[in-house]
Amino acid sequence: MERTLILFKPDAVQRGLSGEILSRFEKKGLKIAGMKLMQISQELAATHYEAHKERPFYPGLVKFMTSSPVVALALEGIGAIAICRKLMGATFGSDADAGTIRGDYGVSRSFNLVHGSDSPEAAKRELGLFFPEGLVEYDYAAYNWIYDPVEELKK
Ligand code: RTP
Ligand code: MG
Repeated sequence: MERTLILFKPDAVQRGLSGEILSRFEKKGLKIAGMKLMQISQELAATHYEAHKERPFYPGLVKFMTSSPVVALALEGIGAIAICRKLMGATFGSDADAGTIRGDYGVSRSFNLVHGSDSPEAAKRELGLFFPEGLVEYDYAAYNWIYDPVEELKK
């Protein structure tokens, strides 16, 4: 099982899209391993996006991410990182395919509703930043029907 950090950005929360977006990830078969609404600090936003520190959009991005609360989610599943990125769609709503979260709910080239980790290293780092207390461990009953228990869930 792989875990990834998903954020519902301030535009998603303020537009009342948290439920819709969460539902897409849940229906795909991803398990919620952590979830909280949080007002993030300047520091956390800056660290989270530090790979983009030299980019011209970085100050605006940090300002946007701290302008209102976000929902932080830890999602789990086989190949969760790539699956979530596929569900999210291309970075900007104006480019993202219909059927993806960004493609269906947004048009902006700044406000793009969701963040998703883009590699196992990024996921580990970002989950540590947003869930320093750790995640919630529990058996997800649906896994036995989301995956083939004989072929896919064998340990
Ligand atoms: P994210 O990290 O938020 O999941 O988005 P992403 O991987 O699809 O895109 P990334 O290149 O990592 O960019 C991070 C966020 O910065 C904002 N951005 N603005 N104005 C611009 O040219 C520009 N480029 C990127 C977006 O909010 C993007 O999600
Ligand atoms: Mg990114």
